Amino acid sequence: MELEISRQDKEKYEKLDLVINKYKQQEGMLIRILQKAQQIFGHLPIEVQSYVSDKLDIPISTVNGVVSFYSLFSEEPQGKYTINVCMGTACYVKGSQEILKTIEEELHIREGETTLDKLFTIKVARCIGACGLAPVITINDKVYGRLSPLDIPGILHSYIKTNKKSAIGEEVKV
Ligand code: FES
Repeated sequence: MELEISRQDKEKYEKLDLVINKYKQQEGMLIRILQKAQQIFGHLPIEVQSYVSDKLDIPISTVNGVVSFYSLFSEEPQGKYTINVCMGTACYVKGSQEILKTIEEELHIREGETTLDKLFTIKVARCIGACGLAPVITINDKVYGRLSPLDIPGILHSYIKTNKKSAIGEEVKV
């Protein structure tokens, strides 16, 4: 069992190396790399932050500062799918509270919590820059806009269905 876990970890770090090599010369690369690292590991524990810090030759305090500042990053394990409900002004006036309430009711958890099956985590976000599509949610990288509460069950169900079909772990495009 231990062997299996360490092999999986090794594969994740190899994937992270590919990400780092691809993005390290680009502007704003730290956030991009941390986003990808979070997709690969599911969250950003201090070991992963330290690895990124070493590879990029950036102080760990800087990396941790970015992870702590942005709500899209989490140091704790998250569900496979993180739902971010935008609570920025444009989304708020278009009913994002009702969207959040519906998601909470459908999944039987509150904002900040993860479902028992570790499939979904609900978070709220400030403006995610897609105000023209308000109200907006994101599920991992995917954006859903102009939502009504009636859309929510179908969207959530599509992830539940996909998860049943797919093998363990999500393919992360580097
Ligand atoms: S306020 Fe929600 S995307 Fe801007």
